[in-house]
Amino acid sequence: MSLPQLRRLLQHTGNKTDQFTLYEWGTMKYFIEAIAATLALKKTSSIARPGAGLFPVYNYRQHGISMLLYVAAMLLGFDAGVALKLFYILPLSAILCASLFFFLFFGRTKITSPSASRRNPHEINAAELLEREVVPLETGEALAVVKGQVILVTGAAGSIGSELCRQLLDYEPELLIALDVNETGLFDLAEGLRSRSHPHSAHLYPYIGDISDVQRMTRLFAGKRPSIVFHAAAYKHVPLLEEYPDLAIRTNVLATYHLCRLAEKYEVARFVFISTDKAAEPVSIMGASKRMGEMIVQSQAESAYCMTRFCAVRFGNVLGSRGSVVPIFAQQIEQGGPLTVTDPEATRYFMTIPEACGLVILTATTADQGGLYLLNMGKPVQIIDLAEKMIRLSGLRVGQDIPIVYTGLRPGERLHETLVAAHEELTPTANRSILRVTHKGHLPTLTTIDKWVDTIEDCLVHGYDTQFREYLFEIVREQELIPTG
Ligand SMILES: NC(=O)c1ccc[n+]([C@@H]2O[C@H](COP(=O)([O-])OP(=O)(O)OC[C@H]3O[C@@H](n4cnc5c(N)ncnc54)[C@H](O)[C@@H]3O)[C@@H](O)[C@H]2O)c1
Repeated sequence: MSLPQLRRLLQHTGNKTDQFTLYEWGTMKYFIEAIAATLALKKTSSIARPGAGLFPVYNYRQHGISMLLYVAAMLLGFDAGVALKLFYILPLSAILCASLFFFLFFGRTKITSPSASRRNPHEINAAELLEREVVPLETGEALAVVKGQVILVTGAAGSIGSELCRQLLDYEPELLIALDVNETGLFDLAEGLRSRSHPHSAHLYPYIGDISDVQRMTRLFAGKRPSIVFHAAAYKHVPLLEEYPDLAIRTNVLATYHLCRLAEKYEVARFVFISTDKAAEPVSIMGASKRMGEMIVQSQAESAYCMTRFCAVRFGNVLGSRGSVVPIFAQQIEQGGPLTVTDPEATRYFMTIPEACGLVILTATTADQGGLYLLNMGKPVQIIDLAEKMIRLSGLRVGQDIPIVYTGLRPGERLHETLVAAHEELTPTANRSILRVTHKGHLPTLTTIDKWVDTIEDCLVHGYDTQFREYLFEIVREQELIPTG
């Protein structure tokens, strides 16, 4: 067994006994009184200690010495609760030997307080982290639009897509097509709904498919004729996608373009593109590819014969999504640390997955043609504060139990996210949690978009990898008048 493993085992053993009860605090008080009496050389006969029914009556001076040894044991590494209990069952010499062992091997002191009971970091909920109530959203508007419809959710095995499916099912669609390339994820989604006996789980239709497979997508649209599409499938990991710009473009740009064309061709009533705050003045491949997705969706809206109402919804980070900071911190806490934070100044906007998905569905029901919307994310949160809060909520101490280390920003990451670009303006909507983003300049026309897509597809065919990045940023920057560099 390795030292860290042994340490974890001992911490775990300590867990069961280190929660102070009132009885133990009473005992502590008794000891303090006893040591005070000893120091004052007060000779006294006895005092009844808490729980005297179980234990003999103690002599102040004798237990003043015990108290000194107890404090020493605690300083040498025992949890206070463990130390207290050991005094009832072990000879003092054994305790001192054990203390010495702890001191030599672990060199750490740990005293737990009544409020700091240890807790599984994976169980910390979003409301505790955000320090506000998370109100589930169910609306009459959504029911009116979704009930009885055939709905398609892409990326249905993902964090956002799966929650969209769960919430949409509550509105009793006729059929909910849950599309993803991730077969296991789809299986888990379907099983999860079935095992919780969701009343409409039979309406879920898991569909394994790649959104960049245009032929397969055509068959799906032609066969099932969805009337609402929530497009959440994407590649999203910022530093990773810096290495694979071709894949980011294939999935986030080209597949989005073809899905929009299919939506128009098969007369889908509403098409909702899930975007991200990283699309605002993008600095990463991921952000730029999502910004281009927004432009594609918005440009489709200007087609004269378009029966489909296209819109895009942008929002910041959602708490607890796969590969995001909260599950990573929980894992790191479970492993005994350290917690890795990119920069002490780094901030992000956060909301919960159910909140974001509830508002996305609501936006879909109320959006104007070609509208770009931003969910109201409140104030940005400092990542370091989030890290410290998670450590404390796990019943541990920042620095002493779990250290925090700074790793520096990775490629494509920025210190602070921005929700809108300099040339964009926010206007309120009827719902204060949903804001409309308006572009001050001109958006690319459908013809321009078609030309870009041709060029990108050409680059993909010829494997001009290095040109993707430049071309993507050129498009986004030129259209958005963002200064380069
Ligand atoms: N997670 C967040 O904090 C957050 C915040 C704002 C916006 N978003 C946006 O929401 C979307 C989904 O994010 P998520 O957190 O759910 O990500 P996720 O990785 O959990 O889910 C994405 C899903 O898309 C699927 N997918 C990827 N490529 C596919 C393809 N070619 N064909 C079919 N399915 C494919 C994946 O298998 C995965 O299940 C992304 O566009 C992201 O930018 C996410």
